[in-house]
Amino acid sequence: MMAMLFALLAAPAVFAIPVAQTNYGLARNTARQVPDASDIDLDPYPNKPRLTFRPDGTFKITVFSDLHYGENPWDDWGPQQDVNSTRLMNTVLQDEKPDYVVLNGDLITGENTFRENSTSLIDEIVAPLNKYEIPFSSTHGNHDNEPNITHAEEIRRELQVAPLSYTRAAPAWANGEGYGPGTYWVPVYTRARDRTPSLILWFFDSRGGFSEGANSTALPDWVDASVADWIHLTVSKMDAAWGSADKVARGSLVFVHIPPHAVQALQPGLNSTQDPGLNADVLGEGSTQATSDPTNNGKDQPFWDAVNAEIKNLHGVISGHDHGNEWCKRETTKNVIFCFDKHSGYGGYSSIGWGHGVRNVVFRSPNPSIGPETWIRMEDGSTHAQIVMDDSYN
Ligand SMILES: *[C@@H]1O[C@H](CO)[C@@H](O)[C@H](O)[C@H]1NC(C)=O
Ligand SMILES: *[C@@H]1O[C@H](CO)[C@@H](O)[C@H](O)[C@H]1NC(C)=O
Ligand SMILES: *[C@@H]1O[C@H](CO)[C@@H](O)[C@H](O)[C@H]1NC(C)=O
Ligand SMILES: *[C@@H]1O[C@H](CO)[C@@H](O)[C@H](O)[C@H]1NC(C)=O
Ligand SMILES: *[C@@H]1O[C@H](CO)[C@@H](O)[C@H](O)[C@H]1NC(C)=O
Repeated sequence: MMAMLFALLAAPAVFAIPVAQTNYGLARNTARQVPDASDIDLDPYPNKPRLTFRPDGTFKITVFSDLHYGENPWDDWGPQQDVNSTRLMNTVLQDEKPDYVVLNGDLITGENTFRENSTSLIDEIVAPLNKYEIPFSSTHGNHDNEPNITHAEEIRRELQVAPLSYTRAAPAWANGEGYGPGTYWVPVYTRARDRTPSLILWFFDSRGGFSEGANSTALPDWVDASVADWIHLTVSKMDAAWGSADKVARGSLVFVHIPPHAVQALQPGLNSTQDPGLNADVLGEGSTQATSDPTNNGKDQPFWDAVNAEIKNLHGVISGHDHGNEWCKRETTKNVIFCFDKHSGYGGYSSIGWGHGVRNVVFRSPNPSIGPETWIRMEDGSTHAQIVMDDSYN
């Protein structure tokens, strides 16, 4: 898989062609447009440290979202924003000492960056993670696909400069015509020598933004339907090798940059006591998957149905994208908890009083019947909007 990933990413030219390019320069891939279970590797990180729960049974994830590095490099305020964002990352990492970090999309404001050095911003973003030696991985957002940058280029650079990156690329048949490669999963084990993981972190690429090059066009802003096949084949393979998740103790948590379309309908029913957190962004066109063009509504349904039907013991789904929202709420038709991130970057749109911070998710046990606690931590150390992601919530 890693060899294939590098082969895939080593040929950036193919990503300039948005459709009907199914080969991606991989010799053993010429006839492949159909889902193929042999592309799914149940030991995807043979050369990286295994992620494990702490001896006391806890596992802490800190989510940085919407960092938006690289705005107006020709002005003072753009680079100063990035200095501030790096300061925030250093402060939070020192204080929180997470076991894992997620960068949940919009790492870079790609519409402001230059062809020749866009990916150098990745070096800046991962520097605090390298410094504190924290394993992490990324999803990518609509601002990470622009004429001068693509998700695939960001992934390739991250893997070059961050030894503890667990980001991977999906097989070619599930990468959204090359513009949604960041779909993968990361296993977490109770003990390093366990045969099977007790927690799966799932990452999905919701695409969006624009294709690269001079004749750039708008890209679909939803997880491609082919990812539903990938979920099905992946879960089937895990179940066959490890036992089904509801029989053995295996939990799951999902990260995707743009919230699923179904999240839009949750906002009118928010109860600020039960569903605490900033609620300042009205979810209109473009704020959830496949709503940029209202006729596209529901294009993420195959993905959303597969997530909820196939992934067992799912603690919740976590997204960024809408900087003024922090709340969680249970989606009752699928019976799944959804949470927004906290806008972390000094780049990207903001408003007075929103501030900057992170979402923490702390598993208290590898047992999937014990839900994690989650809350917002601000840069100044204050915390709010804590909930427990379990059956008692809502
Ligand atoms: C950077 O952070 C400082 C301190 O919080 C703040 O006063 C300043 O406005 C920020 N600058 C930018 C460009 O975000
Ligand atoms: C892309 O990068 C090129 C080369 O640096 C620059 O001339 C161009 O303005 C950039 N395009 C956009 C859309 O920012
Ligand atoms: C990228 O190149 C542009 C134009 O040459 C320059 O203004 C900018 O500072 C560079 N950015 C980085 C992050 O190196
Ligand atoms: C962009 O489109 C124009 C007009 O269709 C065409 O002449 C040009 O070759 C295209 N450029 C690239 C880089 O594909
Ligand atoms: C909001 O939640 C609180 C706490 O559960 C509850 O007491 C209250 O009745 C709810 N408000 C509405 C309008 O449902």
